[in-house]
Amino acid sequence: MSSRSLIRLERVTCGYDRGTPAIEDVDLAVDRGDFIGIVGPSGSGKTTLLRAIAGLVAPRRGKVEAPDGWAMVPQAPGDLLIRERVSEELPGAVGERALAAVGLSGALDADPRDLSGGERQRLALAIAMAGRAESGLPGLICLDEPTRGMDTARKHELAVRLRELAADGPAVLVATHDVEFAATLAERVVLMGEGEVLADGPAEEILSGGWYFATEVARALGAGGPITPEQGAAMLTRGERPAQLPMERTPGRSAKVEGGD
Ligand SMILES: Nc1ncnc2c1ncn2[C@@H]1O[C@H](COP(=O)(O)OP(=O)(O)OP(=O)(O)O)[C@@H](O)[C@H]1O
Ligand SMILES: [Mg+2]
Repeated sequence: MSSRSLIRLERVTCGYDRGTPAIEDVDLAVDRGDFIGIVGPSGSGKTTLLRAIAGLVAPRRGKVEAPDGWAMVPQAPGDLLIRERVSEELPGAVGERALAAVGLSGALDADPRDLSGGERQRLALAIAMAGRAESGLPGLICLDEPTRGMDTARKHELAVRLRELAADGPAVLVATHDVEFAATLAERVVLMGEGEVLADGPAEEILSGGWYFATEVARALGAGGPITPEQGAAMLTRGERPAQLPMERTPGRSAKVEGGD
């Protein structure tokens, strides 16, 4: 964890109303220019983690340090688009800058409803950025499930644009079910499971080193936590019950996969 991290979460627990925590004891450090994919099954706490970082949900326990200047594109960005022309969604010099940053300067006269899914996503990103960044880019850009309904070409276009944005300084955090998108786009992946960070490290290690798939297999087998492929195979062939597995999850602990350098 760098001492100059842009974002720092220390043992953060958040929840809604008085329900069980949606994320629990989460530690996370994000540096300027980081490009992070947050992956994990539905309900594992991806959106809540983004909301905690953006200050939209207050922690019950723990500490969140994050910059004020952030842009958040929610899971249903269509809700942000209400005008008949792109230029009306984003008037003035601030709007022009934001549209240029997402590569939509050529679509000023288009009706937002006529844009492709990928273009709508980028327009929503521009709107979110413009509202937060009177002087240039925000320090943090969060996107929640940005590839829903996009084909491979559009996903690639979005990935390229996001990489360009991250190269300019802000941290980019993308919550996604789309493991393929995360693998091709993000340098670092945070794997969530039942509100905890199960693994955090280089994308290729987390997504191809067995963590993600072992976790998915464990879920399907009801093991209650990540298991090795060998353990999964043993369960299937010997019909063992999950409770007999030696590698049960210890609450509050998370696996950390250290990056290079
Ligand atoms: N507004 C809310 N009110 C009450 N509970 C909520 C609310 N939003 C999320 N939760 C609960 O918090 C937990 C984490 O949800 P969250 O939306 O963060 O998961 P997610 O990983 O983003 O899921 P998905 O992949 O389906 O978007 C879940 O158990 C969910 O039911
Ligand atoms: Mg979500």
